[in-house]
Amino acid sequence: MKKIAVFGSISTDFVVETKRIAEKGETIIAESFHRYFGGKGANQALSIARSGEEVVFIGCVGADLYGDEAVENLKKEGIDTSGIVRTKEFPTGSAHITVCQGDNRILIVQGANNSSDFIEKHEIARLLEGCAFAVIQNEVNPKMNELLLNVCEEKNISVLYNPAPVTTVTNELLEKVHFLTPNEHEAKELFPEKTLEEMVLAYPEKLLITLGENGVLYAEGTNVKRIAAYKVAPVDTTGAGDTFNGYFISGIVKGYSIEKAIRFANKAASLSVQKSGAQEGVPFLGEVE
Ligand code: RIB
Ligand code: NA
Repeated sequence: MKKIAVFGSISTDFVVETKRIAEKGETIIAESFHRYFGGKGANQALSIARSGEEVVFIGCVGADLYGDEAVENLKKEGIDTSGIVRTKEFPTGSAHITVCQGDNRILIVQGANNSSDFIEKHEIARLLEGCAFAVIQNEVNPKMNELLLNVCEEKNISVLYNPAPVTTVTNELLEKVHFLTPNEHEAKELFPEKTLEEMVLAYPEKLLITLGENGVLYAEGTNVKRIAAYKVAPVDTTGAGDTFNGYFISGIVKGYSIEKAIRFANKAASLSVQKSGAQEGVPFLGEVE
């Protein structure tokens, strides 16, 4: 069985639920507080594992309790955590999330996720042995994403790049990745001069724009396609994109067409938003099928 490598962030999510957002200088009483496992990399890895594929994780956490718990959590899901490095230099990354009426606002403290040079190139190459795909996002040090991309290029491993949170994407990088999966907001930042249709037509079978409840837009040749999402009343949409990315790449590795993999991933994402927390609602393969 071909493995999937995820290189990315591992964070602790501190989530406050509130009926409204506090104004500047105002103090209000919120509804609840929860601590969840999060970080885009970790969420995507967990989604891939729950979809029945083998995952090897590359990342960095602090030498603290949150780091211990996060690694333990990934191990429990059957993920190979031997590529997770502990650093004494920074604390484990955290995300400070406010959920208000189903929508979220997120502040990220990168901590160990922003470490550079925490792992040697040859070590990355060893971990990528036997991988069909590598998955990356933007919650890490860009230098490390570049290093990972270079190793993947040398080893002929395809890359799915989820450009979240958004930064600039160079043409060189676009050439190198197999799939690019921004949401609508990220796509508009990346290609400000184009309409969504023009964007996907410029990168057929490569660019998938996730539109939340409006589904996913992509192109097959000169044919623009929109694959509808499943209609649900969301409880917490945090991590829905991660579930989509994890299940999508898993579908591709299972040999599905792009369209079938999108439908598979849409279903998983719609199930995931029905529970609070980025990882709590991520379904297992059996539930999606
Ligand atoms: O994509 C959702 C994730 O982004 C959360 O788990 C949080 O860690 C933020 O970084
Ligand atoms: Na959820």
